[in-house]
Amino acid sequence: MDRRLQDRFSLDGQVAVVTGAAMGMGRETTLTLARAGARVVGIDRNADVMEETKAMASAEGLACSFAVADVSNRDDLMKVAQRTQEDHGRVDGWANIAGILRYSMIEDITPDHVNEVIAVNQLGVLWGIAAAASVMSNGGSIVNISSSGGEMPYPSLAAYGMTKAAVMQLTRTAALELGEKGIRVNAIAPGFVDTPMVRNTHLRADGSLDEAKRREHLAARAAQSPLGITGEVQDMAMTILFLMSEAGRFYTGQVMRPNGGVFFG
Ligand SMILES: NC(=O)c1ccc[n+]([C@@H]2O[C@H](COP(=O)([O-])OP(=O)(O)OC[C@H]3O[C@@H](n4cnc5c(N)ncnc54)[C@H](O)[C@@H]3O)[C@@H](O)[C@H]2O)c1
Repeated sequence: MDRRLQDRFSLDGQVAVVTGAAMGMGRETTLTLARAGARVVGIDRNADVMEETKAMASAEGLACSFAVADVSNRDDLMKVAQRTQEDHGRVDGWANIAGILRYSMIEDITPDHVNEVIAVNQLGVLWGIAAAASVMSNGGSIVNISSSGGEMPYPSLAAYGMTKAAVMQLTRTAALELGEKGIRVNAIAPGFVDTPMVRNTHLRADGSLDEAKRREHLAARAAQSPLGITGEVQDMAMTILFLMSEAGRFYTGQVMRPNGGVFFG
């Protein structure tokens, strides 16, 4: 590949923060951005599992550090932003990936269920944008994770779908507000990706994985795609890399849909 093209996708010399870094898309994004040359600060509330990401990064000699923080807590994210700025002198990229999945039919839904999902999936992204903007002094790129569930309704995912739709509108508002500081804000709305979040829905009461149920679910989701496939964490990490790099400089306020064609927008 031509060196000039490679440079457009390189994050050499940049500093990025990734939320949800312990597993799934957040883990893969942490490793991918670091492989692209960025110094990455990964944050998650699950300190134990984040140790696995830390070990993977360290085995590859990647420039990553990790901090425990809860994205639903604005102060936590402000502290991460300040600390990153102090330690590394700049913040160029911020990926708001942490999220939770909770099921309930509307007739049974409780305030606790709704408040928990809003606090993480919606306010967690709002606080992440605010924290990133507070330290991005030379422009930057913020990427928020929405979901195809923010555009396609699924039974028992009312609260989840509400928050993911909100992330799309929040992304547009933030793009308008932050554009004059040279900060780009985009969202990605992934289709189905086999991650621990999804695998948790295939656990039996005793905690073991119901492999037959898992395969059935994957096949049903693959059948929704014209390509007949489901997504992989790397598909999301590559989209985020594009949006964070110079190659994505003309994108802001957009929702990108790596979803295998299950929904066209
Ligand atoms: N997997 C899919 O099919 C899919 C599809 C569309 C969108 N998404 C979205 O992509 C994002 C990543 O999903 P995933 O499948 O990798 O999930 P995952 O459950 O595998 O990983 C999510 C990570 O977020 C962390 N997290 C959760 N709440 C947190 C909090 N309050 N503070 C800090 N960290 C927290 C978890 O500890 C975990 O490490 C989520 O926002 C999810 O809603 C997932």
